[in-house]
Amino acid sequence: MSNPTPPTAATASPATRAEPAPATRPETAPAQRPETATPRRILVTSALPYANGPIHIGHLVEYIQTDIWVRFQKLRGNRCVYICADDTHGTAIMIRAGREGRSEVELIAQMSESHQADFAGFGIDFDHYGSTHCDENRQLCGEFWQAMRDQGLIVQRDVAQLYDPESNTFLADRFVRGTCPNCGAHNQPGDNCGPCGATYSPTDLIDPKSTLSGATPIVREAPHLFVQLEKLHGFLADWIDQSGALQSETANYLKGHFLAKELRDWDISRPAPYFGFEIPDAPGHFWYVWFDAPIGYIASTAQWCQAHGERLEDWWKSDQTEIHHFIGKDITYFHTLFWPGMLHAAGYQLPTKVHIHGFLNVGGEKMSKSTGTLVAAETYLRHADPSYLRYFYASKLGARVEDLDLGPEEFVDKINSDLVGKVVNLASRVGKFASRTGLAATYPEDGGLFAAAAAAGEEIAEAYEACEFARAMRRIMELADAANPFVERARPWDLNKDPDKLDELRDVCTVATNLFRQLAIYLAPVLPKLAEQCGQWLGDPIVRWDQSQTPLLGTAVQPFQRMMDRIPIEALHKMIEDSRNDDDTPTTDPAAQWNDSDQPLQAEPLAPEITIDEFAKVDLRIARIIEAEQVPEANKLLRLTLSLGGTERRQVFAGIKAAYTPEQLVGRLVVMVANLAPRKMRFGLSEGMVTAAGPGGAEVFLLGVDEGGLPGQRVH
Ligand code: MSP
Ligand code: ZN
Repeated sequence: MSNPTPPTAATASPATRAEPAPATRPETAPAQRPETATPRRILVTSALPYANGPIHIGHLVEYIQTDIWVRFQKLRGNRCVYICADDTHGTAIMIRAGREGRSEVELIAQMSESHQADFAGFGIDFDHYGSTHCDENRQLCGEFWQAMRDQGLIVQRDVAQLYDPESNTFLADRFVRGTCPNCGAHNQPGDNCGPCGATYSPTDLIDPKSTLSGATPIVREAPHLFVQLEKLHGFLADWIDQSGALQSETANYLKGHFLAKELRDWDISRPAPYFGFEIPDAPGHFWYVWFDAPIGYIASTAQWCQAHGERLEDWWKSDQTEIHHFIGKDITYFHTLFWPGMLHAAGYQLPTKVHIHGFLNVGGEKMSKSTGTLVAAETYLRHADPSYLRYFYASKLGARVEDLDLGPEEFVDKINSDLVGKVVNLASRVGKFASRTGLAATYPEDGGLFAAAAAAGEEIAEAYEACEFARAMRRIMELADAANPFVERARPWDLNKDPDKLDELRDVCTVATNLFRQLAIYLAPVLPKLAEQCGQWLGDPIVRWDQSQTPLLGTAVQPFQRMMDRIPIEALHKMIEDSRNDDDTPTTDPAAQWNDSDQPLQAEPLAPEITIDEFAKVDLRIARIIEAEQVPEANKLLRLTLSLGGTERRQVFAGIKAAYTPEQLVGRLVVMVANLAPRKMRFGLSEGMVTAAGPGGAEVFLLGVDEGGLPGQRVH
């Protein structure tokens, strides 16, 4: 077979820099785009991470996915700008700042810094990273608001909401807990019940408590402002159906779940106190965080424009610009109903595409703090190379809304056998020799390997374009599989020993090095660091996709540096172990996360000190309630029969009728005062006392016994 490329084409001339249009047009390209090599203009966003917590490996699915796509576009010669920001407003931030005794502005500044450090650690390269708490955003929110007012989309209505009279704040659903109105499970959040799955409104909870102060919330009415989405029904239905902006499963889901009926009004304001922007024509009311957050995409773009002499209209009001949002499935309807509605009303360009991804599970399960699988970005970085995670996610991601799983074994296997074993190994095996020989001036016979890999370029590019990264990775690994046997057969380590075989060795190195470089170019969106190392080694930075089409020839090669190491499975186990012990609450007070009120202690101050001997006089015992029944004549009492084990029984009258039903009690282990002098009551003899806490009435809480405790055991 003859040389696949002319030997002189070592470097591409500037004229070949622009990419030819792909054979099949990417489905995201706007229809009016001419079939020329004109670079596309593309604005890309990832969802704005909440400023109330650290970045974890679940978030990173999205930011890595987006970063890969952006790097791919740039490598292809398109004009692409990647915009993000911290999402800073809302009750959670306000509460947290209060708890930590600092201002919201201080808190969000620190969070933004740590988010950006995490992102940088994973090579996520934003063109601009802003904040929703900025003047540009306030102003744009005003503009959107006015447009929506002008179009008669806003109405005002009173809403009954739970209000915490102690913290003086309305309570968002997750700040209320109480008994499920459906199944009676205790300590359930304000919107839905864990055990039975019922959904309800926080005002339906039995015995609700504010998690902020422990106070019993009261129902209070406040005026709220609503967007009448139904007025945009026709527009949204058309957009969802015809724009091609949504994956088909998402479009179908929206049609089936939302568009089939009337669209409900969207409650878009929150009464003070609220950390956010006050609504100019409704003093004392603030835009709900989900109003100003997506507008933050535009505000952050505005800041980027300012810094780069660009015009915002060219990016958000021009049909020559593609707008791509990358988001997780949990925030679908904000981005596919509300946001398009807002953009339409305010006269901004609608997204070309909303790319929705699924959720990350770890080891087949939802990530959780207690098992250590909710790994913070920072924790990951202490244990493993960020390139591994970038490659792993790329190898798992497709264009559909599917969850993905990170299993430690699979992770280690993909890194060690694909990335290190196939790709990096190709360079390692000739690295030292190539530095000695340099690259031949003419591309040697390689059995068609380079030509075949060059020809695969468009197919790989199409997979990237369509967000089918797993497909792209598979194709690239096939090329690596084809390249490695060449080196095995050529045995450069043997050639190196024979001074007469220098030319032969140089040829082998030239082939292997160029095959590796092709892989590094194709992997550059995923592994920018590897691309950079390759560029340094060969003295030719990787900056364009079409560098993959021409071999590098006739140049010296720098000393070879190891590029990537295998990862031992223990590193992942240690990461998870470490993560379990992580404390992500950056506060000096370890109790802050529970935020227990001082009210109980205030209500009943501590008793005077006693000696251990005095305490020992009280004989506390574990007992089992074996019978419980109402005492019809008594308002507050239940009659309990307690077993101390064997045949030892006590009858006790306990004032817990308003808090427990007899059925809830039978079988339970409690702590009783066993040597209390019996007391004769109207209904019979009370032979002891069951211990409980709380102010009384319905608010009585029996002391329980941990698993393993036995009736009759003494409590010391
Ligand atoms: N602040 C909102 C987005 C506002 S956009 C105008 C938000 N923030 S978030 O911090 O909770 O999530 C940021 C992104 O990370 C979201 O797209 C979310 O879907 C994604 N992920 C959060 N946890 C995730 C996983 N476990 N797996 C995959 N993506 C995840 O939502
Ligand atoms: Zn329930």
